[in-house]
Amino acid sequence: MGTNMHHQIGLSLLVMALSVVSASAAPHVISLKCQSLNNPLGIDQPIPLLSWQIESDQRGQRETAYQILVASTPDKLKAGHADLWDTGKVASDQSIEVPYGGSKLTSGEAVYWKVRIWNKDGKASAWSKPAYWSMGLLNPSDWSAKWIGHDEAAPASASEQDESKGGGRRLPARYLRKEFTAAKPIRRAMVYFSGLGSSELYVNGKKIGNAVLSPALSDYTKRVYYVTYDVTDSLKKGENALGVILGNGRFYAPRSNYPTHTVSYGYPKLLLQLQIEYADGSANTIVSDPSWHLSTNGPILANNEYDGEEYDARREMTGWSEPDYKEFNWNSANLVDAPGGIMSAEMMDPIRVTGTIKPISMHEVHPGVFIYDLGQNMVGWCRVKATGAAGQTVSMRFAERLQPDGTLYVDNLRSARVTDRYTLKGNSTETWEPRFTYHGFRFVELTGFPGKPKLNSIEGRVVNDDVASAGDFACSKPILNSIYHNIVWGVRGNYRSMPTDCPQRDERQGWMGDRSAECRGETYIFQNRNLYAKWVNDMADAQHADGSVPDVCPAYWPLYNDDVVWPSTFVIAPNGMLDQFGDTRTIQQHYPQMVKWIDRMSTYITDNVMPRDQYGDWCVPPEDPKLIHSKDPARQTAKPILGTTYFYHCLQLMSRYATLLNHPEDAKRFDALAERLKNGLNKQFLNRNLGQYDNGAQTTSVLPLAFNMVPADAHQAVFNHLVDKITKGTDMHIGTGLVGGQWLNRVLTANGRPDIAYAIATQTTYPSWGYMVEHGATTVWELWNGDTGDPGMNSGNHVMLVGDLTIWFYESLAGIKPDPMHPGFKHIIMRPTPVGDLTWVKATHNGPYGQILSEWKHEGNKFLWHVIVPPNSSATLYFPTSDTQSIQEGGKQIKDVPDITIANGTLSSRALNIPAGDYHFESHF
Ligand code: BGC
Repeated sequence: MGTNMHHQIGLSLLVMALSVVSASAAPHVISLKCQSLNNPLGIDQPIPLLSWQIESDQRGQRETAYQILVASTPDKLKAGHADLWDTGKVASDQSIEVPYGGSKLTSGEAVYWKVRIWNKDGKASAWSKPAYWSMGLLNPSDWSAKWIGHDEAAPASASEQDESKGGGRRLPARYLRKEFTAAKPIRRAMVYFSGLGSSELYVNGKKIGNAVLSPALSDYTKRVYYVTYDVTDSLKKGENALGVILGNGRFYAPRSNYPTHTVSYGYPKLLLQLQIEYADGSANTIVSDPSWHLSTNGPILANNEYDGEEYDARREMTGWSEPDYKEFNWNSANLVDAPGGIMSAEMMDPIRVTGTIKPISMHEVHPGVFIYDLGQNMVGWCRVKATGAAGQTVSMRFAERLQPDGTLYVDNLRSARVTDRYTLKGNSTETWEPRFTYHGFRFVELTGFPGKPKLNSIEGRVVNDDVASAGDFACSKPILNSIYHNIVWGVRGNYRSMPTDCPQRDERQGWMGDRSAECRGETYIFQNRNLYAKWVNDMADAQHADGSVPDVCPAYWPLYNDDVVWPSTFVIAPNGMLDQFGDTRTIQQHYPQMVKWIDRMSTYITDNVMPRDQYGDWCVPPEDPKLIHSKDPARQTAKPILGTTYFYHCLQLMSRYATLLNHPEDAKRFDALAERLKNGLNKQFLNRNLGQYDNGAQTTSVLPLAFNMVPADAHQAVFNHLVDKITKGTDMHIGTGLVGGQWLNRVLTANGRPDIAYAIATQTTYPSWGYMVEHGATTVWELWNGDTGDPGMNSGNHVMLVGDLTIWFYESLAGIKPDPMHPGFKHIIMRPTPVGDLTWVKATHNGPYGQILSEWKHEGNKFLWHVIVPPNSSATLYFPTSDTQSIQEGGKQIKDVPDITIANGTLSSRALNIPAGDYHFESHF
């Protein structure tokens, strides 16, 4: 023991000495990512992109060169023997999106890597901690597994058939098992598998990983996602067993014809391949095939994402995924048809249980009917704990609101039955939560509970794509913080491997228009890059051969309307990914298909105007509290204005992409067409005398202003008209639907009236985000009048009305914005907006280079600003103060602070250039 102690003291002294050295010495390299993921397994990108961050407390720290070592084993990497790739010292400041350029990687290969950098003074850092990734199955011929399943359903009773009441789509989960012998000690064992619609994998009785609702959704005729697990430690020499539970997900669709035609792909099925490498170098592959056994007699009697899950614990098959299980009523699995799509590695953070919420209250509203309030409109399910007699069934039903009498309000859920049922097996305390369903709810009705439930008899399990936080926003105005809270919960709950419109009713689709420009705002909240890269891929998959892109992706509701605004997300979302993440690959990959969509849609242009539009400026605040859609023509925006402005915007983005990809001829073509549309719009709709487009509704001004389509000599008049519309017409309230709302706050701010944006954002009377808060919302409603509107389309948890509010919080109020000339926050534009009665704002953003901070305080005539710019990036700061001579940093005059330079040569520009670092500025108004 004595020696051990000595050893420890010695070690900690050494650690202390090292950390003293590192504080003043070279920065170090952290956060190694491959394809934006930490140590991903089973990727199928042959040229993965590698990124890292630099940690340093020194100002101006940046990378001047890097070296990447990539090896096939950890030992080789450790020894510096980079048998796959050694870049040598590369003079470069690139630290994100570095394409792998080593030996060709093969299916299943394990890859280990590390990085070092040379800093601004040319000093080398230490090597980073090693990171790794592994390759998936890259070629169709790598799959020797066969699709298996059971293409049959138990007949449904007549009462179960009515889809409008949530019937007809009941199916018990499929349980599949396979025993095998591992003859020798195992060195490495990888499972590649896809269990459709949703699945869980068990090895020797234990669930592998903690993903739920896996794998990611897709159009299975185009693409099938598989997941990869390292199961080396779960296997043993000798007898082993694999078990898979298959739920329906969206494969066996929750509906077939209600509320509209829904694509369904058949019965759940499995493809699984386990590749075992033995210590002696030999190998063995276990695959799904008819030697597997299948049962539909397990405890999960029914599972449906809209209707819920039913579980009878008396039917549990203890030991079913372990060796030597005595099967009763199992059959050989059948070979079934492949779904048809290409096998694709799921390269995104999986869905997980990301939080647990305790109820805040419980009331017995009728004898035996208990209503719980979780205090937050959340997405997921509940875990229930009960003790009772075998055969007793506990039911949970879910809702976002209550009726005045305290019972559940379910009218807005339409046909979704949202009921989970658990039948007790009757031995001691039983704890259960479902697997293959999810609900959007704040309130839970518990019935059939044995005895009196306690407050903690249930708890909410929050379920969503497990994307890391991308930062935080807070300010001195409480209503804005409440709104921000609602946005975060709304965005989070609508991540189900695609951004959904809503999580509660019989819909939950990837409606594209809801996210067109709004989705860039979400990047400030969550690190959602791979989720959106995947969704853009869904769009490409959904495109018809003739170029048409649908309104919903994946196209489970195959709505090919050839409108502009909804499908244009295919062009618009990648622009945000370029600016926010420096992602050029998404654009590169889909450019030809985007061109195809542009070309198809261009054929609709008539008289230099794009007439195509389907949904209008969806959900403008209606005049009557009961209405879903306004009937007042003055509030609506003509469809050709929506079509023309959005198509113009798309052409501008296409021109940016064409230039980026070095297709100058394309860029010219897009620019010329854009010019035609601009002229067409102004000719047909601009009334110069009135300074308005068409009927002058708020969105008719917002869009041409947002996209720079207004002739210079009419610009001010059009903007003044918008200001009038808001100040007089809607008494400082929003008057746009989801299309105009995605640009409104930015247009007002960019044109010098942030005060109006602030007034709109802080309103608490109808229609406003604050009105929702004051009426109990903990997420964002689908309708401005969600409290009074018709339940036919009235979700309490939609993202679309967020519009550009999140973007405005971060980019305008806090003033953190990527410079499009140096995307991915390589260079940051920092321009905070002290406005109204705001006295402070604090925002952080975890960008590709590390954490950015903007924290300002307005005290008397002083403006105090704490700024952090991460290493290897830089920023231009725009001060909101006019007394530019007063600007100080750390108590010093700007001219006396090394590294800081005055932008544009003169302080009157109120702009400073700063390199990475932590700064405390002070200036006077
Ligand atoms: C969805 C919306 C969607 C709209 C378009 C609604 O039912 O919930 O989010 O954009 O339909 O028609």
